[in-house]
Amino acid sequence: MIAHEDRSGQALRECSVGAMSANMALMHLCLETPDRHVARHILDDAIARERGAGRDRLLEVRSLWRETPNAYELIQAIVQTEAADGGDGIARCAAGFDAAAKVSPIAGVALYSLGREDLLQQATAEVVDDLESQGLLEHDRCALEIGCGSGRFLAALAPKLLYVIGVDVSANMLGHALRRCASYRNVELMQGDGRRFPSLSRASFDLALAIDSFPYLVAAGEDVARSNLMEARRVLRPNGRLLIINYSYRGDDDRDRRDILRLAREIGFAVRRCGVRPFRLWDGAVFDLERTAP
Ligand SMILES: C[S@@+](CC[C@H](N)C(=O)[O-])C[C@H]1O[C@@H](n2cnc3c(N)ncnc32)[C@H](O)[C@@H]1O
Repeated sequence: MIAHEDRSGQALRECSVGAMSANMALMHLCLETPDRHVARHILDDAIARERGAGRDRLLEVRSLWRETPNAYELIQAIVQTEAADGGDGIARCAAGFDAAAKVSPIAGVALYSLGREDLLQQATAEVVDDLESQGLLEHDRCALEIGCGSGRFLAALAPKLLYVIGVDVSANMLGHALRRCASYRNVELMQGDGRRFPSLSRASFDLALAIDSFPYLVAAGEDVARSNLMEARRVLRPNGRLLIINYSYRGDDDRDRRDILRLAREIGFAVRRCGVRPFRLWDGAVFDLERTAP
């Protein structure tokens, strides 16, 4: 079997048993198959082989694709933006996300949204519900988002918090975030790479979020990930929480858990949740850290 058929087939098998959402399965199919007709063929074959609930789940993937006819081309276009070259890891990342923001500020921050605002909002709501269930959202609290992208979390959290600051390395992403958050006076945006937040005072935040941004920091080097963690600790109040959703894209959950446990111990965080996947629409792994006192 050709490698892409194997990888796409695996995603469709997971979807057919209810272990992966239809949008994630379609994302993998589009991402890992070199031609849209081949992708369509792989999906039709998988549907023909299934019966019962498994078949219904795969038919959902096909319906989603019919409703989102540009999904394949959009996902391929975003992947091309990751090929930006020149500069160090952070500069390449900034160039890549600047380009992705021009293609689609929706798919550019969450490929599994397939570029659809409705799916992006549903996935955002799942994370906000998780924060709420942890008792982290109160009207007197301040939050920092590291790698805020086009601002979907800033806009969702602004009505629930006192103040929200978003930092991102990509000027184009920040431009979209500015427009998305234009009606909120308690949202501030800053450009930066997270290695230092010089303008932010120590112990001034209750919550720090890094949603799908650490994989880029880790890819830029462990020193970059470490300095972001140290800065997050500096600006958090004692017992403040840092939620990292997805630590890396290395595909090794055990290694991510070990790295987080080690860095948390060295830098001064207690680990409350370590790599759990509580969401339905995407497979984000939650690392929930609490800043230890003093
Ligand atoms: C996949 S997007 C996620 C955006 C947002 N958190 C969301 O979920 O909608 C990752 C974001 O991290 C930003 N990013 C990557 N490396 C960064 C760094 N060193 N400092 C700040 N932002 C960074 C990118 O520019 C991009 O906007």
